[in-house]
Amino acid sequence: MTTPIPFLEGNQVHVRGLSVEDAAGPMGQWTNDREVSRTLYRGAFPSDAGTVAKEIEASRASAADIEFAVIETESGRHVGVAGIHGLNWVARHCEFRILMGERDVWGQGYGTEATQLMVVYAFEVLNMAKVWLGVVKDNAGAVRCYEKAGFVREGELRNEVYRNSRYYDVIRMSILRDEYDQVKAEWTIADKIREQFPQ
Ligand SMILES: CC(C)(COP(=O)(O)OP(=O)(O)OC[C@H]1O[C@@H](n2cnc3c(N)ncnc32)[C@H](O)[C@@H]1OP(=O)(O)O)[C@@H](O)C(=O)NCCC(=O)NCCS
Repeated sequence: MTTPIPFLEGNQVHVRGLSVEDAAGPMGQWTNDREVSRTLYRGAFPSDAGTVAKEIEASRASAADIEFAVIETESGRHVGVAGIHGLNWVARHCEFRILMGERDVWGQGYGTEATQLMVVYAFEVLNMAKVWLGVVKDNAGAVRCYEKAGFVREGELRNEVYRNSRYYDVIRMSILRDEYDQVKAEWTIADKIREQFPQ
C-alpha cells in the first residue's frame, strides 16, 4: 500500500481520509476501552472491525459527513479519528467530533491540534460559517481542548447522555467564522496553517 499523502498538517499530528481498512487496525477496538468511551453514547455498544467498517462505509456514502484519521506524524501511528458531520450547506454550519483512541497520547496537545485542523478545514476549505459540538459537561479534558481551539459555550442540554448508570448534562459549544479569524494566529499550528492556506 502506498503511504497516504497528509490532507492537512499540524506540528505533531496530521490528518488523512479515513478508509474502511482502518477498521481492521486498533481503531476497531477504541470504544471498547471504557476510559476512552467514558462519556460517549457510542460506548454503550460493543465495537469490532466489522461494526467500525460499516460506520466508515456509511459516513463515506454520506455527503454530510467527512471523517479523518489522526496520525502521529513522527511515528506514522493512527491515534485518533476526527470529523465534520451534519453539514448544512444553507445555514453553513456543521458538527465537529473527535476521539483520540490511543490513551498514551493524551495530554500532549494532539487533540487540540486535530480539533484546530478540523476547524481550519470547515472554514478555509468548506466555507462554513459556524462549527458546533456537544460535550459531556464533566469531560474536562475535552472542554479544555475545545476552548484552546477557540470554541465558546452556547448552552446546556440537561440529562442528554446516559452512561455509567447515570445521566450527564451536555454543553453545546461553537466557533463562528470571525472568532476563528481572531484566534487562529495564536495557535501553535499558526505557521502550518499559513503555509497551507496562504492569503
Ligand atoms: C478529549 C480528547 C480529544 C483530548 O485529547 P488530548 O490529546 O488529550 O488533548 P490535548 O492534550 O490537546 O488537551 C487536553 C487539555 O485538557 C487538559 N486536561 C486533561 N484532563 C483534564 C482534567 N481532568 N481536568 C482539566 N483539564 C484536563 C490537559 O491538561 C490539556 O490542557 P493544557 O494543554 O492546557 O494542559 C481525548 O482525550 C479523547 O479523545 N478522549 C476520549 C473521547 C472523547 O472524550 N472525545 C470527546 C467527545 S466530546
